[in-house]
Order: sequence, then C-alpha cells, then structure tokens
Amino acid sequence: MPTLAVYPGSFDPLTNGHVDIIARGARLFDRIIVAVLVNAEKAPLFSIEERVEIARAVFADQPNVEVDMFKGLLVDYVERRRANVIVRGLRAVSDFELEFQMALMNRRLNGAVETVFMMPAEQYTYISSRLIKEVFTLGGRVHGLVPDMVEARLREKVARKTAR
Ligand code: PNS
Repeated sequence: MPTLAVYPGSFDPLTNGHVDIIARGARLFDRIIVAVLVNAEKAPLFSIEERVEIARAVFADQPNVEVDMFKGLLVDYVERRRANVIVRGLRAVSDFELEFQMALMNRRLNGAVETVFMMPAEQYTYISSRLIKEVFTLGGRVHGLVPDMVEARLREKVARKTAR
C-alpha cells in the first residue's frame, strides 16, 4: 500500500525549514500533502490563497508533493484524504511538549494515523515563521532562511504598508 503523508501547518510564511522537511518527506513517502490550515491565526500576514500559491510554486517541479488547504480537525482531513501519516518537524526540545501533546491527542482521535517527527538540517533549527515575520518587519535580513519567492512577497507587503 502506498504511504501517503500529510504535513500540516500554518506556513505563514513557508520557511526553508519547512521546505527541508517537505523534501525529506518526499524522499521517504510515496506522496506528501502540504496541508495549509485555514484561519490558523486571526490575522495571518499571508492569506490562505497566498500561502497555498507560494507552496505550489516552490514545489512545482516535485510531482509527489501536493499542496492543499484544510479546516477543522486535522485527523478528519487525514482520513478524508485516505492518508496514514502526519509529518511534523522537530527543531529543538522546546518544540517537544506541544508536539507530543498533539501527536497523542491525534492518536486518541484516530488510532490508525501515525505521527512521524523529522528533524530539519541544522542550519534551519532556529527558524520559525514568527521570527521571520518579526525580523523582516523590523528591517532585518532573512535571505537564505526563506524561499526567494517568500522574500519577494515579504518585501512587497512591507513596501505596501509603508506607502500607506
Ligand atoms: O504550523 P503550526 O501552526 O505549528 O501548525 C499547527 C497545526 C495546524 C498542525 C495544528 O494547529 C492543527 O492540527 N490544527 C487543526 C485543528 C486540530 O486538529 N486541532 C487538534 C490538534 S491535536
């Protein structure tokens, strides 16, 4: 049976840490679905459509990477897609507690779905979407930490804000 994995997240924005995990997942599983959560935050920087568009563009040449959006319970989405694995990235010990809680809650909700944790390359272990937004908005460099398309979109957003 082919192994179909779901990599869920807010991806606001997609970072090179996410890209690294997706590339690793695409090598390990037959197919990986990047599932972007609708309404993850009340006021995301990037709309759901933008987040999906960016991820689709970044993985356009990888046939076993699909990008989709979901709302509601993750395990319901996983079941609907007939997937069997949830992939989550673990950067540091600080991620562990919440990820452990979510994995066990998801297992309680659907025992047939297994959560698999993957470690990104060391150079990405300190990156988070939240830090990227903060650093960029305050004028810091994020080059090399996010895909070029994300950097360009961040620049457009900040330019639009300052033009107002
Ligand atoms: O990128 P994030 O914000 O860390 O991703 C969190 C995400 C999307 C995996 C989590 O919030 C989620 O699964 N939300 C869907 C609602 C749900 O199923 N909640 C119960 C999880 S135990």
